[in-house]
Amino acid sequence: MAKQGVGITITQHILNQQRQKPEATGGFTTLLYELIVAAKVISREVNKAGLADILGATGIINIQDEQVQKLDVFSDKIIIERMQHIGQLCCMGSEEDADLIEIPSQYPKGNYIIVFDPLDGSSNIDVNVSIGTIFGIYKKKSDATDIDLLMDDVLQPGLNQVAAGYFIYGSSTMMVYTTGDGTGVHGFTLYPSVGEFLLSHENIRIPERGKTYSVNEGNHAYWDEKTLTLMDYFKATDKKSGRPYTSRYIGSLVADFHRNLLKGGIFMYPADNKDPKKPSGKLRLMVEANPLAMVVREAGGYASDGNGPILEIEPEELHQRVPLYIGSKEDVELAERFISGKGGKR
Ligand code: AHG
Ligand code: MN
Ligand code: MN
Repeated sequence: MAKQGVGITITQHILNQQRQKPEATGGFTTLLYELIVAAKVISREVNKAGLADILGATGIINIQDEQVQKLDVFSDKIIIERMQHIGQLCCMGSEEDADLIEIPSQYPKGNYIIVFDPLDGSSNIDVNVSIGTIFGIYKKKSDATDIDLLMDDVLQPGLNQVAAGYFIYGSSTMMVYTTGDGTGVHGFTLYPSVGEFLLSHENIRIPERGKTYSVNEGNHAYWDEKTLTLMDYFKATDKKSGRPYTSRYIGSLVADFHRNLLKGGIFMYPADNKDPKKPSGKLRLMVEANPLAMVVREAGGYASDGNGPILEIEPEELHQRVPLYIGSKEDVELAERFISGKGGKR
């Protein structure tokens, strides 16, 4: 019989997953549901870019030393406003905010923590190229309620995430998420006329090995010998190992990651000596690397800082940066061998 209606909605999917966990209270479902509403609002604004006065920079430099775009601020605000009242969170951490974000006293608090990059790829906003939102969710470990005492609860290794994922605002808007523990990575596409995310990519598996490498080659002059050797490896000709790899780089982590997740390949943002204040490269452990590392691991891939798993790093600060090698397992393991100095030659 032909399928009636619109298929499985994200809400239905989250509820189904919740029912498989008898200990689940529904709090987590509420949390994800509200985040989805925020993403729909961001998606709507992103789609208006060029029409409304939402393009361009605010003139403000954020905690990351980067120009803040108007849509960065908007997205940050929307997520905070939508998430703060639901009674499930004890605090939040955002790429755009120097300190932890407190839950206002008029709202109840809960045991979850959400960290997020409200708008990833902001340099691509003005030129109509895919951008995204990245999130990771943790459970609080202590009984602390005071915001000054909650930092230890937030600074957990990525392995402790109870869920992670991203929204990509591209040719269509998608949500990709996982709750770990073998539940898989699932992708949902926003059906604009219905206003719902519908299951479109069930149980995504990343190919063991890809043919694509993604890196900002413009940083060549700032890389060390090991990094240069690795990049040469991907570009060298060798029929047996399928080289040279092809190159794809958008400059929006979410978009580069999403392509490689579906098609296979490796995304890299190595350590470099461009800026002495950022020896670990540009990307952020808590709001970018960890959530995507959880997604890729659950899809059969791997994420490394060049020396070991991203997910095992004990964070020292909220805005900590980390070198990132992420994607197909064999490609990332190979990169790790080059960078760690344990094997790997041209
Ligand atoms: P954000 O817009 O959240 O600051 O992140 C931008 C990041 C990431 O999306 C992308 O992979 C990287 O910056 C690109 O950096 P380069 O321009 O240095 O290649
Ligand atoms: Mn980002
Ligand atoms: Mn951002």
